[in-house]
Amino acid sequence: MAEEAILGYLENHEEISDSGEFAAARGIDHAEIVNVIKSLHGFRFVDAQDIKRETWVLTEEGKKYAAEGSPEVQLFLAVPAEGSISKDELQKKINPGIFKIGCAQAGKNKWVEMGKNISRKVQHVEDQVKDLLLRIQDDKAIGKDDINSLKARKLIVLQTWKGYSVRKGPNYAPKRKKPATDLTRENLQRGDWKELEFKEYNFSAKGPPPECGHLHPLNKVKDRLKDIFRQLNFEEMPTNRYVESSFWNFDALFQPQQHPARDSHDTFFLQVPSTTRQLPEDYVELVKQVHESGGYGSRGYAYEWKRDEANKNLLRTHTTAISSRMLYALAQHAKEQAFTPKRYFSIDRVFRNEAVDRTHLAEFHQIEGLVCDRGLTLSHLIGILEDFFSRLGMSKLRFKPAYNPYTEPSMEIFSYHEGFGKWVEIGNSGMFRPEMLRPMGFPEDVSVIAWGLSLERPTMILYGIDNIRDLFGHKVDLTLMKKNPLCLIGIR
Ligand code: PHE
Repeated sequence: MAEEAILGYLENHEEISDSGEFAAARGIDHAEIVNVIKSLHGFRFVDAQDIKRETWVLTEEGKKYAAEGSPEVQLFLAVPAEGSISKDELQKKINPGIFKIGCAQAGKNKWVEMGKNISRKVQHVEDQVKDLLLRIQDDKAIGKDDINSLKARKLIVLQTWKGYSVRKGPNYAPKRKKPATDLTRENLQRGDWKELEFKEYNFSAKGPPPECGHLHPLNKVKDRLKDIFRQLNFEEMPTNRYVESSFWNFDALFQPQQHPARDSHDTFFLQVPSTTRQLPEDYVELVKQVHESGGYGSRGYAYEWKRDEANKNLLRTHTTAISSRMLYALAQHAKEQAFTPKRYFSIDRVFRNEAVDRTHLAEFHQIEGLVCDRGLTLSHLIGILEDFFSRLGMSKLRFKPAYNPYTEPSMEIFSYHEGFGKWVEIGNSGMFRPEMLRPMGFPEDVSVIAWGLSLERPTMILYGIDNIRDLFGHKVDLTLMKKNPLCLIGIR
């Protein structure tokens, strides 16, 4: 309506000199007229010039008196026409704010006699203040002295009014055609597509945020790591089993049955089903022998190995349980056909019964890589670790001798963290022991180099998260998923 009014008016008139008067004359809200003018101006249908006017508007107090009457008149009316009224009585009849101002003004106007008792001095008064306020409310002019007195009583204030004067613009037309935004099936069928004016593309407009799922930082880092492993020709191991037997998690890895990690402080054992159903019996026998009395140049642990202990089901404490299964299968293949060198990796969840704090959770993710080939040495391990970690952006590495039941030698991996200004431990590694590999059936000259690290550690460093509970678990703020940036490691 506002748009038609403006464009229609300009068809026969040179200009709209004042948008405020224009709006008032047509009973259209000025704010609406202003919006339309801005839009028409933007598309150059019209040229608009700012106009400013200072007008007097009522203050809150002024509005009140305009509606209810001035305090002096309210007070006057509360004084009886005949006789007098005590101050206390009068005060009860009108509210205290009105009373005070009313007394002062009515006294000044000589409308009332102010003494101990109050009485009228005149019989009739006009509410001039109210009338003046109403005139201002209606945009009507009032005299200078009246303005000054109302201003002094803080009943009116000056406000800058903003409007426009409007003339035809270069694109003026008596009607604005809404440009089409879509070419529809109906447009094609009717043939009106030929006449349609299309809205221009705004290539710098932001698209709406997609209403879709978002990847967790752990998944982003995991995907990048998978790419790195694949670039290095590693195959992913199937890790889709959280429940594992103690046998594959510990025994096959030459981890003695009294090892502290096996005890329930670190391991979640299963109640149902509490034991595994089957294990490869020939191999179990060889594992028992190596634990009890050694072999392949080892003395073993010299204790009585118990099958019951190996049968116990648990939530895997490391993904090395999967590595032991995969290596066993590879060794069987070597016995039956031929030995094939392999590079394997996995990234998946593991479980440990630990006290939860800002760097530990009872479940986390491990990244694990291994290479199985003839004639591998510690240099190969160092070489592949340097290659792997440099792709994660960590090119300064140091190694420290360590102990794992299943690797010898073993090395902890440290990287220099520029941000922290110190060496931080980033992983664990080693060469799998013959006590692990030989019972599986690998030829003597086959060795396996392997390493493992947590996925949480690099993710927290990359995303600047210092409390693991902000990354994983029930306390995570879900907007983290929507807002976290891309993971760029490994992209060159
Ligand atoms: N399994 C080890 C851990 O839980 C990591 C590791 C993997 C160490 C392979 C050596 C070789 O920390």
